[in-house]
Amino acid sequence: MLKDILNLIPNIQDKNALELFGGQGAAWTGMLYQNVNKLRVWEKKSDLANKLAITCPDAEVETLDSFERIKYDSSTYDIVSADQFLTTSKHIDVFDLFPYIYAWMDDTYFFTNIWNDVEAFLDGLGVKNSQRVIIRNARYEFFNLEDPTMGDCARKYRELAKDYGFKVTMEGIIKRTDMVSMLVHHYEN
Ligand SMILES: C[S@@+](CC[C@H](N)C(=O)[O-])C[C@H]1O[C@@H](n2cnc3c(N)ncnc32)[C@H](O)[C@@H]1O
Repeated sequence: MLKDILNLIPNIQDKNALELFGGQGAAWTGMLYQNVNKLRVWEKKSDLANKLAITCPDAEVETLDSFERIKYDSSTYDIVSADQFLTTSKHIDVFDLFPYIYAWMDDTYFFTNIWNDVEAFLDGLGVKNSQRVIIRNARYEFFNLEDPTMGDCARKYRELAKDYGFKVTMEGIIKRTDMVSMLVHHYEN
């Protein structure tokens, strides 16, 4: 079960977390909220952000563009979650968070989604050919592989963190659906 991945984090009830892609909190963020001490949530759509008042009543919710905001946030968090799969904006998946996201990392757990089968995922979403080309190109650029597996995705995040001077001291992966899994890494610098 997805929530089992939270059991990998020691003393999670004392942790201070940031969710970069809150949505309405129904799929993952609400679960994170239930387990941590304090949660800040960012979401770009105000109608969804309003619903976070129900799923995460005591969270600090801000309606903004996370890809922009991440460039100048100076807070530190014990947990950073990027619960995103794809966007229809200029940003493909969470790739554009890097390297800005590392400014926050300091004994930090990082959650993100990795694809088991991106083509099936795109089929399920009904993503059209022109968009698929953009997504494939962005993935190719990011992973430097045409068809990265789940293991390749996890390795890419490990290597990125190492390139920026972090030690990856823990890795956990939990299958969410046939198409996607949740990855957690713990980074120390
Ligand atoms: C997979 S959903 C999040 C699901 C949510 N965490 C949950 O638990 O149900 C991704 C969310 O990211 C939001 N999003 C997409 N681009 C964004 C951006 N640039 N800044 C902030 N939020 C964004 C979308 O509006 C969408 O609600």
